[in-house]
Amino acid sequence: MQTPSAEAIGDAREFLHQQLAAVGEHPCDLPDSPSALEAWIETNAAQVGEQYAEYLKTRRNGGNRRYFTNRAHALYFLQCVAPSKAVDGAWLYGVLRHWDDYRFDGLVRTYLEELGDGDPAQNHVVIYRKLLAEQGCEASIELHDQFYLQGALQLALGYNVRHFLPEVIGFNLGYEQLPLHLLITAYELSELGIDPYYFTLHVTIDNASSGHARRAAHSVSQLMPVDSNPSDFYQRIALGYRLNNLGVNTTAVIASFDLEHEVIQMLERKRGFGQQMHSDYCKFEGRTVNQWLQLSGKIPEFLAALENKGWIKRHQDPQLSCFWQLIDGPGASMFGVFSPYEKQLLRDWISGDWRPEQAQFQPRARPVNTANVRSRFTPSEASPQRESLVSLPAKTVDIDMDRLRTELQTMSQQHQILYLIERMSPGRHSTPAGLLATRLFSEFIGQ
Ligand SMILES: [Fe+2]
Ligand SMILES: [Fe+2]
Repeated sequence: MQTPSAEAIGDAREFLHQQLAAVGEHPCDLPDSPSALEAWIETNAAQVGEQYAEYLKTRRNGGNRRYFTNRAHALYFLQCVAPSKAVDGAWLYGVLRHWDDYRFDGLVRTYLEELGDGDPAQNHVVIYRKLLAEQGCEASIELHDQFYLQGALQLALGYNVRHFLPEVIGFNLGYEQLPLHLLITAYELSELGIDPYYFTLHVTIDNASSGHARRAAHSVSQLMPVDSNPSDFYQRIALGYRLNNLGVNTTAVIASFDLEHEVIQMLERKRGFGQQMHSDYCKFEGRTVNQWLQLSGKIPEFLAALENKGWIKRHQDPQLSCFWQLIDGPGASMFGVFSPYEKQLLRDWISGDWRPEQAQFQPRARPVNTANVRSRFTPSEASPQRESLVSLPAKTVDIDMDRLRTELQTMSQQHQILYLIERMSPGRHSTPAGLLATRLFSEFIGQ
């Protein structure tokens, strides 16, 4: 959230050098010449379209979901990719300072669109945060450092555009292509009753004909040096492009889910909070609940004891398990003890192979139709009144917003721009003041 120190930015530069050295030998499917990029993008998009049609055909013929075995699996995925989604667009932050150089127009516009031009209903980071909050997934799981690698790379690039412009262009080129997994993820989330808007939004906004993918290719030709060696520049673009392959990719995240392991980890995390909270009149294999919870590493045995005593009936409707009845519903004794994600883990683990005869909660998924994707936010949330740098509206309840308005009035226009850019950083643009700064900036540069 804070503006990083010069030292931190220097460290980020060093980190980028290490990562770029590591991807030097990785395969790269970019065409040899930048002039072939637009055709390459079209071919990729067409291939993805065909693969998606194939996927839909399989599903229509009764095939299983390809990614998510159950709802808990999908929620696990949403949390594992959250560190990257929380900095969506960050790699382009540094281009804002070049807003008055026409060659940067495409990149600047892409960054502003990631920020929804300051409209909270269209700001990608806000949308993702809302999604996690709606699903009760905030801060539920501890993630391995690997899950932060992509986000860290994106931040490092965003703060070092001055040193890594070709790499930023190349990274952007890779990131903004439409991948098959985005389409499948959106389809299966919707099937599981989880709002897919964040994902469908990217199907439209990154499209190959006029969206971020096309602009990414255009910015390569715009920013290619004229006097210096263009092939060196393109080599560096290709290196930046390869950075997209680092970290844990979508399919690996999905494959890393192990329901039983997650249930055990979750109960182990909660153990400390519950070990003095239970009454002692019930014993399971000689131990009270408090005694079980005092032992580290014994959750699997405790669960087995609950099963042996008939408190958990796996592979049946969870409503038949006494343990589930204690957790679920307003009158349940342990109401509120487990977060929605934690409950979903337990529910799916207890259900196991059991399937309800009629799916209780499965709105039919529809194929992602790029023409039909619209904002699902209500009009009152969408498009706040545009404000200009000159006429600033009355006070709000947000202290940072009030401060922004007051301070801007005392500055020259040149300083105002720099001041706004500082508030549009990856860590700050999704706050009310950051959104206001983005709206003012967008308005000012007239894009
Ligand atoms: Fe985005
Ligand atoms: Fe994008």
